[in-house]
Amino acid sequence: MTLARLGDGHQRVIMFGGKGGVGKTTFSAATALHYAIAGRRTLIISSDLAPSLSDIFETEIGPTEQPVRGVKNLWGLEISREEVMRRWKEKFGPEVYAAATSLVDLGYDEVVDYVSLAPGIQEEFMLDYILERVRDGRHEMIVWDTAPAGDTLRLLELPHRLFSHLKLAPRIYLQVRDNLKLDKVPFGEIIERWGKLSGEITNWFRNPENVVFVLVTIPEALGVYQSQRLVGQFAHYGLNIRHMIINQVVLEADCEFHRQRQAMQAPYLDLLTNEFAGRMGLVRVPARPWEVKGVARLREIEQILFDSDADPGSLPGST
Ligand SMILES: Nc1ncnc2c1ncn2[C@@H]1O[C@H](COP(=O)(O)OP(=O)(O)OP(=O)(O)O)[C@@H](O)[C@H]1O
Ligand SMILES: [Mg+2]
Repeated sequence: MTLARLGDGHQRVIMFGGKGGVGKTTFSAATALHYAIAGRRTLIISSDLAPSLSDIFETEIGPTEQPVRGVKNLWGLEISREEVMRRWKEKFGPEVYAAATSLVDLGYDEVVDYVSLAPGIQEEFMLDYILERVRDGRHEMIVWDTAPAGDTLRLLELPHRLFSHLKLAPRIYLQVRDNLKLDKVPFGEIIERWGKLSGEITNWFRNPENVVFVLVTIPEALGVYQSQRLVGQFAHYGLNIRHMIINQVVLEADCEFHRQRQAMQAPYLDLLTNEFAGRMGLVRVPARPWEVKGVARLREIEQILFDSDADPGSLPGST
């Protein structure tokens, strides 16, 4: 099994998720490289707290999209939380402020800062941003290297969380409305409109015709538990994980250290295979002695992910 049939060809967004340090950025980069080499205009976006696309591609990648040096058809973008907040304020600030101050007299920063701190706003903005990028049509594929597990999931319960935070705000306005005997609550309306909008956005991401989710894990206790938890949570939100990459698998054990690691991994590989093989594509990626840095190394990973000849099908623990 490889990623050769990642989606069925027409999805435009591929998201990589998983716990910290398992290989999300590595596989996002290798996948983006794969599509770029295949001639598809590809954008790789990292929204991780500690973005590392610049390191992995050995070229400067920042908050505005730029071509990845030495790779045709590939552009990169690293967007930090601060940058997300800044863009959110730029896009929604005036609207929020106009609505709020139609009822009470407050400073611009007070209003906009309050709303921008709503839990889930960052994730919502990322979804909105990525959807905007899909719709502007400048790229055929968008590969999204997400922040470690918990954060990615948060965005799925976004409309709910956003509402519970923002509901505090209208309470103030409702009081003002009652005191002044006003009929209309523009702020309430705007929140409702947002609710609708964020519902639309999350539904777009939930649709398997649009997005492919790839979960990255490792054959260790923590990796297995986290995968079980994540797959369950994704299912709860009506999302299917299409592929699981099991990384850092020890293939050849010619010394005591590696024999022990292999023996440690074997039962977890069995567990993952037994539990998930029927539900999603499983791809095993061997541990390499080098770090995955630079286009040449990424190509090796890309070939493991996408080339069926290189499929390590008879790994210990595989069934
Ligand atoms: N199969 C592999 N063999 C050897 N090294 C690997 C392999 N996969 C990943 N690495 C290395 O492991 C480290 C972590 O990988 P990566 O940065 O892709 O993980 P991540 O999930 O994005 O981490 P974070 O959650 O911190 O963003 C990197 O130094 C990478 O080069
Ligand atoms: Mg990363």
